[in-house]
Amino acid sequence: MEWKTVAATALVISLGFLAIPIKVAPDTSVEDVRLFETYVSYYNKSYRHDPEEYGRKFGRFQIERMNRLRSTQESAYYGLTEFSDLSEEEFLSLALRPDLSARGERHRNDCHRRRTHDPLPERLNRVKRLIDIPPKFDWRTKGVVTPVRAQGSCGACWAYTVVACVESMVAIKNSTLRSFSVQEMIDCAGNGNFGCNGGDICSLLSWLEDNEVPILPESDYPVTGTSGTCLVDRSKTSTVRVGDFTCDSYVDSEEELISTLVNHGPVAAAVNALTWQNYLGGIIQYHCDGAFSMLNHAVQIVGYDRSGPTPFYIVRNSWGPLFGNKGYLYIAIGKNICGIANQVAAVDVII
Ligand SMILES: *[C@@H]1O[C@H](CO)[C@@H](O)[C@H](O)[C@H]1NC(C)=O
Ligand SMILES: *[C@@H]1O[C@H](CO)[C@@H](O)[C@H](O)[C@H]1NC(C)=O
Repeated sequence: MEWKTVAATALVISLGFLAIPIKVAPDTSVEDVRLFETYVSYYNKSYRHDPEEYGRKFGRFQIERMNRLRSTQESAYYGLTEFSDLSEEEFLSLALRPDLSARGERHRNDCHRRRTHDPLPERLNRVKRLIDIPPKFDWRTKGVVTPVRAQGSCGACWAYTVVACVESMVAIKNSTLRSFSVQEMIDCAGNGNFGCNGGDICSLLSWLEDNEVPILPESDYPVTGTSGTCLVDRSKTSTVRVGDFTCDSYVDSEEELISTLVNHGPVAAAVNALTWQNYLGGIIQYHCDGAFSMLNHAVQIVGYDRSGPTPFYIVRNSWGPLFGNKGYLYIAIGKNICGIANQVAAVDVII
């Protein structure tokens, strides 16, 4: 390539980075941005210097590229969602927690220390091997999964996910499905959790277990959608507590994750949800970086299906029932897609 071409390309790219309101920090989209830059300058598109139009066209371009990789009828499909009008940067700051991996990293060390002193996670493991693994399994059909919630602009996915797991475990143990208080976690959790500004599933579980925190019913501490002061009414109490939990990586051992899911119950998982901005449904197999450093969201895994050509997890999100498949996503099993196996928590409750 001639130096002039190189220089011109570099200029176009750097102009693009400066002038166009698209956040390029996440690794996954850098390639898309480059490709689009090349495309726009190659065809000398009229919107080259119109940031707003450029942003819109880029969004459509990304969606087209993602849909092009669809290999079967079941593959994920992308299009306009509730979040499609946001720039990637806005989406990241509104719906996701870009600092989740740093929190998770801190907790990874903490977990390791915990595990070396604590034989309890082994007990969970022993229970795991008792039952055969069916080709598909869905805890929703057992009546132990509460309806999908909407976290809105409160970045407390970690609280939503842990409470969802507590609800499922109480239902499994006691045959009573009740909603518990997410707001109590948002307002009260210590241990490095900061309400709507972020937190981590495993540090919340540590806090709940170490402090034997009574988890109130939803009706005693209803959700407000913002962070506030901890207002636990002393007249209200609950016998429900986190008795024990595991927080493990299942990268390269997703078989064991399936086993935990079937033999223990729904689990909480940290994920990279960056490409979910335009997710409409189907099984996510590509375009979802699994690196630990990309974790930015937390979800509940409630089941899986390995009876078809593309085995997948059934994943409950907290972006309301209109998102994806009635509030759920399907994520392919086996390759740590979206980083789903990086940090997975299984919970035991005391009732
Ligand atoms: C690119 O398009 C602009 C108008 O949009 C035109 O003025 C310019 O000459 C074009 N450049 C090339 C190299 O075709
Ligand atoms: C457990 O079940 C009993 C009997 O149905 C019920 O009274 C109690 O409230 C349940 N406990 C919880 C925590 O749901």
